[in-house]
Amino acid sequence: MIIALGCDHGGFEHKNAILKHLEEKGFTVKDFGIYENVSVDYPDIAAKVCESIQNGECQLGILVCGTGIGMSIAANKIKGIRCALCPSKEIAALTKQHNNANVIALGGRFTSFEDAKDIVDSYMNATFEGGRHQRRVDQIMAIEAGTFEA
Ligand code: RB5
Repeated sequence: MIIALGCDHGGFEHKNAILKHLEEKGFTVKDFGIYENVSVDYPDIAAKVCESIQNGECQLGILVCGTGIGMSIAANKIKGIRCALCPSKEIAALTKQHNNANVIALGGRFTSFEDAKDIVDSYMNATFEGGRHQRRVDQIMAIEAGTFEA
């Protein structure tokens, strides 16, 4: 499994800390940048990370911008992506368990480095529960596909 990682200038230090943390834990990570702390447009990075999941190169993604909001909005425009903004480790676990989120977004300006590592660990350690949650995820995907009937 390969984890896709990306950030804008609002999450540069966090992205690097998460990269180091995941690699120390033995995960394979692909870093989609940014590679120096310069101002960039977060949709560009969100698209790169999410397209790598869409095309099967990577399986999960982690995005960091200032609030996590821009990254999560952009990511959720990409077919097949379920991205959750995670302000806590509890939310990070729940979004894997219930929503089978394949991408999480963090707010670098509102999350400590320690909390960011805890959030990532919690997300990686959690498992999708299926069952009634599978039905709901299927409904989300049907909304995306334009085939959902309420
Ligand atoms: C960049 O200044 C900031 O807008 C971005 O990192 C993010 O917070 C957007 O949602």
